[in-house]
Amino acid sequence: MNYRGPLVVATRNEGKLREFRELLAPFGLAVKGLGEFPPIAETVEDGETFEANAVKKASFAAEKLGLATLADDSGLVVPALGGAPGVYSSRYAGEGSSDSENIRKLLEEMKGAADRRASFFCVIAVACPGGGTRTYTGSCTGVITFETSGRGGFGYDPVFYYPPLKATFGEIGREEKNSVSHRGKAMLALKADFERLLQWLEPAPFLEAGGLRCLKEEESI
Ligand code: IMP
Repeated sequence: MNYRGPLVVATRNEGKLREFRELLAPFGLAVKGLGEFPPIAETVEDGETFEANAVKKASFAAEKLGLATLADDSGLVVPALGGAPGVYSSRYAGEGSSDSENIRKLLEEMKGAADRRASFFCVIAVACPGGGTRTYTGSCTGVITFETSGRGGFGYDPVFYYPPLKATFGEIGREEKNSVSHRGKAMLALKADFERLLQWLEPAPFLEAGGLRCLKEEESI
């Protein structure tokens, strides 16, 4: 029998939770947000890679809650800036900085840069309590504009020009963005692997007691 949940999504962001619910709905899996559990400590996102942060967030919550947990981490990588803002994307202009402050700093740092290419990356991690983690990655490459254009999306969307659509991510709709974005692609990878993931999350015989186990890599399907 395959795992039927619940799967916790380690986010307090309602928008993100809604997206994952929509994605996972066809699999008949109960999806819960962190808000549905007693509060657990915030994970310190001090990893050097998106993968390290996603794995840390997912495993921490999985251990605390004793349930399989999904978490994601994402950000913008600009080669001309040595990979910045990278894992610091949400706080590029300082702790607690707003999207417009981060954009202002990015455009300032990019002044005079001949190479304006940039890529968004997203890593989704699914962790089992006491078990391993599976990760799924997506990326999307575009060009940083000289000024903002469009009011849609969030973060760096208004300065991220995506050549195939001849528009910035701030100028396109949510569905169109999901069909090409780093997050959309990581989700597609997760979806493609979902049946295997459910087998990996096979319930232990002691599930009635709230128990769960993950198949070890060597037993893996
Ligand atoms: P997190 O994955 O929620 O920690 O997001 C990290 C940061 O990366 C966000 O605060 C944004 O600044 C940036 N970012 C991640 N994904 C996107 C996106 O799709 N559009 C614009 N900015 C993004």
